Amino acid sequence: LTYATMFNPPEEMHQRYEAALAELSADLGGRFHLYIDGEDRPAEAYDTRVSPLDRELVLGEFAAADSADVDAAMGAAQVAFKGWRHTPAAERIAIMRRIADLLDEEVYLLAAALTLETGKNRFEALGEAQETADFFRVYADSFEQQGFDHMLPNDPLPDWTSTNRSVMKPYGAWVVIVPFNFPLALAGGPVAAALVTGNTVVLKGASHTPLAGRLLADCLHRAGLPAGVFNYLSGPGSRIGDALVAHPSTAGVTFTGSYEVGMRISRFMVAGRYPRPCIAEMGGKNPCIVTRNADLERAAIGIVRSAFGMGGQKCSALSRLYVHSAVADELIARIKGELGKLNIGDPRQRENWLGPVTTAQAHANYARYAAQLGESAEILHGGRQLDDCGDGYYVEPLLAEASLEHPLWREEMFLPILLLARVDNFEQALELANDTDLGLTAGVYGDQREVNQFLDEIEAGVTYVNRPQGATTGAWPGYQCFGGWKGSGTTGKAIGSFYYLALYQREQSHTIVE
Ligand code: ALA
Repeated sequence: LTYATMFNPPEEMHQRYEAALAELSADLGGRFHLYIDGEDRPAEAYDTRVSPLDRELVLGEFAAADSADVDAAMGAAQVAFKGWRHTPAAERIAIMRRIADLLDEEVYLLAAALTLETGKNRFEALGEAQETADFFRVYADSFEQQGFDHMLPNDPLPDWTSTNRSVMKPYGAWVVIVPFNFPLALAGGPVAAALVTGNTVVLKGASHTPLAGRLLADCLHRAGLPAGVFNYLSGPGSRIGDALVAHPSTAGVTFTGSYEVGMRISRFMVAGRYPRPCIAEMGGKNPCIVTRNADLERAAIGIVRSAFGMGGQKCSALSRLYVHSAVADELIARIKGELGKLNIGDPRQRENWLGPVTTAQAHANYARYAAQLGESAEILHGGRQLDDCGDGYYVEPLLAEASLEHPLWREEMFLPILLLARVDNFEQALELANDTDLGLTAGVYGDQREVNQFLDEIEAGVTYVNRPQGATTGAWPGYQCFGGWKGSGTTGKAIGSFYYLALYQREQSHTIVE
């Protein structure tokens, strides 16, 4: 699969996806255990998970890990670290490439699992599955290019006989905590980075969507990782999240999820006996600016993809639209035209582009926000929960024009809800776009002068210019790095970039006198 095929899928892709969906659906309903120290480990308790496509569809019973399981997983990861960090880098790189190949082979099955448990359509699901494989490949390549574990080739000091070198070393047992919306790619990316650099991993699968992570664990097992190098726990964050972060063996944490939880974990990680690294990728309240010089056809297509794709449940989703008043009416008409072409419904059917939102909570939140906007803004499109699509969490895309003082400009709703405001000029739009504590993605449609100013001044880690494939979404490993500024990320270093791997290593200076 390539980036291009996601947008223009050949018939064969549909058929293979549909076959995988049928195969996986026939297999569902069983028990999914934990994976610790190279083997499946039964848990004391299991949670039943149903599909957001249809609440009657039981995905299975997933192990709900407890603190004893956390101890077992962290213990296994700590013991395995002793061997894994000495495994030659070339061997670790080869295993990462083997994992990428196995994920390639399973890409349709993994995509089917993602549709069933998150509700995302086949394009988004295949995109995520392929992105996961690509993370393993990209990090293997970039670690190889980095020269394995040496960052700086230090020169000898003049007139001295010492040899100096700077060496990058792994930290130890690393915890990866993933959100419900990308349970595979946001697991695979950090896991690949941690493993290739020589750390061992305990992955906590997404509380609401644990299936894809468990299938990832199967692939890692088959790739022949030594026991304990990778471990998988499922279960509610409220039950094991704190135990994982606070565990004495935890050398570092990568968390992707909400701003509140990310900030809590990062504060915790600096406040213990000594500071430990925390890579927190948090929310977005991502803006797009459409100027009077924009190509409105492109803008409308890109906006609809980014605001409503996957039900707005991407950290990169577009949620704030600032449009020059001279072109606002035409842009609104074009957005409505694009929305009119979308089919909403069960994404197992080819014709449906927008599936359900993932959780019962999101479904309920949508009704609450729609009611609030109905009273305090002008709803231009949408606002209803859709009961006629089946017994799942289906809702309409919602576009609302709101005053600049409306409180929802500052709240991450994580739903297919886009707020629009008319602005008088480009400078005002840029100021509004930056007027937030978050800074993940941002987009612009405008002319060259506006684009240059946007790229110079926008406070966001990922930017897109005049892009019909998405105004703020759709980064691909190896092509666009992906990381938040300000409250959207703790490090300012982006996923998928060369610098990202350095976050999983600590530097040591060696000065040796012969
Ligand atoms: N990688 C996803 C995107 O860029 C989050 O939209």
